[in-house]
Amino acid sequence: MYGLVNRAVEGLVRSQFGDATWTVICKKAEVDPGGFVAMDVYDDAITYKLVAAAAETLEIPAEAVLEAFGEYWTVYTIEEGYGDLVAMMGDSLNEFLDNLDAMHERIGDAMPGLVPPSFKREPNDDGSSILHYSSDREGLAPMVVGLVKGLAKRFNTTVEIKLLESDASGHHAFHVQETGPSS
Ligand code: HEM
Repeated sequence: MYGLVNRAVEGLVRSQFGDATWTVICKKAEVDPGGFVAMDVYDDAITYKLVAAAAETLEIPAEAVLEAFGEYWTVYTIEEGYGDLVAMMGDSLNEFLDNLDAMHERIGDAMPGLVPPSFKREPNDDGSSILHYSSDREGLAPMVVGLVKGLAKRFNTTVEIKLLESDASGHHAFHVQETGPSS
């Protein structure tokens, strides 16, 4: 994955747990704490090792690290200069979810090595949605939970999101229900 992802893991850990914790995590993951280059592509294994080492160090499940990371990503990418692109992709949570593939396609113009996920939203009659997420990578469904919660905050709403099913081909279906404006 692009170094931007590993840099965001670093930003999350440093901002919430301090620099010393990041050093411990890098040591555990056998990763150089010197830093990542945002636009360089790194082996996915490095990101997985960082997540596993963070989970071990913070004594929380890897799923919780991924969920926190997903939520952080929705703020981090804006700070890193993707705010204009994000602003173009929708004025509501549903519109934004509908545009995720178009957004990653745009990002792929500047990041030719991108291996993006794919999303498709299916509206239900009761106003909720089924969000289909497909990826070549394993184990990142908890990140989607955090991403959708982070996006909801951006649109001043709150959501309940539940994983309904996952299959071996890398397809996951979530139920997404807006639960109202955040207070
Ligand atoms: C402007 C904001 C965003 C940028 C710059 C961005 C960019 C990226 C990059 C660089 C990766 C790593 C893939 C690779 O390097 O091959 C990635 C992965 C991913 N992105 Fe985005 N992304 C953005 C927003 C979002 C949002 C809002 C979602 C919400 C659902 C999302 C969902 C994902 C997921 C789930 C992955 C993990 C890869 C996988 O599942 O295979 N991204 N994105």
